Amino acid sequence: MTKIKDSVVWVTGASSGIGEQLAYQLAEKGAKLIISARRKEELDRVKSNCKSETVETLSLDLEDEFSLKQRAKEAGTIFGEVDILINNGGISQRDTILNTSLEVDRRLMEVNYFGSITLSKTLLPKMVERKKGHHVIVTSTVGIINTPFRSGYGASKHALHGFYDALRAEHHNDNIKVTIVLPGYIKTNISYNALVGDGSQQNKMDPGQAKGMSPEKCARLIIKAIENNKTEVYIGGAKEKLGIYLKRFWPKAAAKAVRKLRVK
Ligand SMILES: NC(=O)c1ccc[n+]([C@@H]2O[C@H](COP(=O)([O-])OP(=O)(O)OC[C@H]3O[C@@H](n4cnc5c(N)ncnc54)[C@H](OP(=O)(O)O)[C@@H]3O)[C@@H](O)[C@H]2O)c1
Repeated sequence: MTKIKDSVVWVTGASSGIGEQLAYQLAEKGAKLIISARRKEELDRVKSNCKSETVETLSLDLEDEFSLKQRAKEAGTIFGEVDILINNGGISQRDTILNTSLEVDRRLMEVNYFGSITLSKTLLPKMVERKKGHHVIVTSTVGIINTPFRSGYGASKHALHGFYDALRAEHHNDNIKVTIVLPGYIKTNISYNALVGDGSQQNKMDPGQAKGMSPEKCARLIIKAIENNKTEVYIGGAKEKLGIYLKRFWPKAAAKAVRKLRVK
């Protein structure tokens, strides 16, 4: 069981959506909370809405490797060493492979993959020394079963599974825990902020997103999974969860089903 109360918890992507709701619920559970994203004014808004005195903001850009390492060192000086890192910040994609420039593919990898592992790798030595630490990583259903229009996004989420499965195995004996979270459709701004092929934002809500689970419920299920030290947790509608099992046990049927999906 991972305890939230009095633990130092660091959440990225806390300026909106799932991360914002995680911040409110973790604060209510008594975490010593650090919230991060690029937009400082949005982090200040989230902080002021948290029902807790132990919340601090730490703005960062997941694309900026050098400053990220600095931020990870700073994080350990705010309330003491970080006990739980929730790598939640990220951006999505809505375009075909043919339309998507390589720059966009690289940007998705930088933010979603390299940004997250930079924070984990910077915190890891201290966690190993202390024999204490929990890495929580928000990937996606498309981290198992990718769909059209998400080639680079899904690839970055697949990569996270590869990295964090290895981290879990290498540091089991150091008491380092890893929980991989796979949300399906959650009603946030993710599709507004998603990149199209030339690197601009889509700026519209997808129909699937609009009908998705609330970010409040998603955050509640993520926290439950952390407390119960789950290896992986699937959050979302029955269809998205079915897709994961289909891909694992009947890959041919999954490939056929995915061709017919309306995902944009
Ligand atoms: N919503 C869904 O249906 C869904 C499904 C599966 C997985 N997910 C995953 O859930 C996570 C949270 O997304 P969300 O749905 O809550 O979307 P969101 O509302 O768009 O939130 C994304 C968060 O990531 C931060 N972010 C984006 N680029 C960043 C960068 N370069 N540096 C630092 N922070 C950055 C944003 O903050 P700033 O703009 O202030 O930097 C924001 O706080 C993402 O990893 C996403 O892939 C979402």
